[in-house]
Amino acid sequence: MWYVGSKNKLSKELVPVIQSYITKDTKGYLEPFVGGANMIDKIKCNNKIGCDIHKELIALLNKAKNEIDNIPDIISEETYNEVKNNKSKYEDWYVGLVGFCATFGAKWFGGYARSKADKYNGEKTVMAIKNLKKQAPNLKDVKLKNCSFLDLPKDKIKGYVIYCDIPYRGTTKYKTEAFPYEEFYKWANEMAKDNTVLISEYNMPKIFKCIWQKETKANFDSNRKLGDEGNKRVEKLFVCNADNGYIYDKN
Ligand SMILES: C[S@@+](CC[C@H](N)C(=O)[O-])C[C@H]1O[C@@H](n2cnc3c(N)ncnc32)[C@H](O)[C@@H]1O
Repeated sequence: MWYVGSKNKLSKELVPVIQSYITKDTKGYLEPFVGGANMIDKIKCNNKIGCDIHKELIALLNKAKNEIDNIPDIISEETYNEVKNNKSKYEDWYVGLVGFCATFGAKWFGGYARSKADKYNGEKTVMAIKNLKKQAPNLKDVKLKNCSFLDLPKDKIKGYVIYCDIPYRGTTKYKTEAFPYEEFYKWANEMAKDNTVLISEYNMPKIFKCIWQKETKANFDSNRKLGDEGNKRVEKLFVCNADNGYIYDKN
């Protein structure tokens, strides 16, 4: 699914690295920040769980997984405006569809996606929905849940590979509230005692070790940060080593 911060383009390189941590003894694969599910749909594991704090996003992914034929193929600008201004009148999955698949750059209600060529009204929405429909069969074996990473049942998650594609520090927020970075570092450190915790970010505190990196170009403003050299970024994958007995301490 088209999504702000999608890992689809990097998935060819990232998926094999993550997959190498999943062995026959792995109890499950968890993505607490599943977003457009552009990584989890390619990972092979018997037990895959994807969570996200965005209610309408999870409702849309579940709809795509279970009832893809009941999703419309096109969204007009008139429908976009109607749903945008009356969200509570519509089902969550439909608000998700309009909010993500009818907008410029897949940004949540970020303005109706008009086509440059302007061949017909809704052309861009057709492309976004086609992309979601193509992805849908690969969501069949994924359990999708709406929750914050902070509400996950820690005691039940042992022997998992946990891949965290968090909103990058310093980039556009996905929701209005700021992401709790310090709490996340502590949580990841704690989870790493019984699981393998992998994290995508540009920079992480010292206890997290970089195991993969690649120079990329940030295309959208949302991925840019003041002080960037041009739009070059170094995408990194970190592992959290709780083995060394280090407990995360901000200072
Ligand atoms: C970078 S995106 C994930 C993109 C995804 N890997 C993809 O390829 O489509 C980060 C996601 O984290 C979610 N998020 C932000 N805060 C969260 C929280 N506290 N708990 C769970 N998810 C959260 C956002 O809604 C967003 O979907």
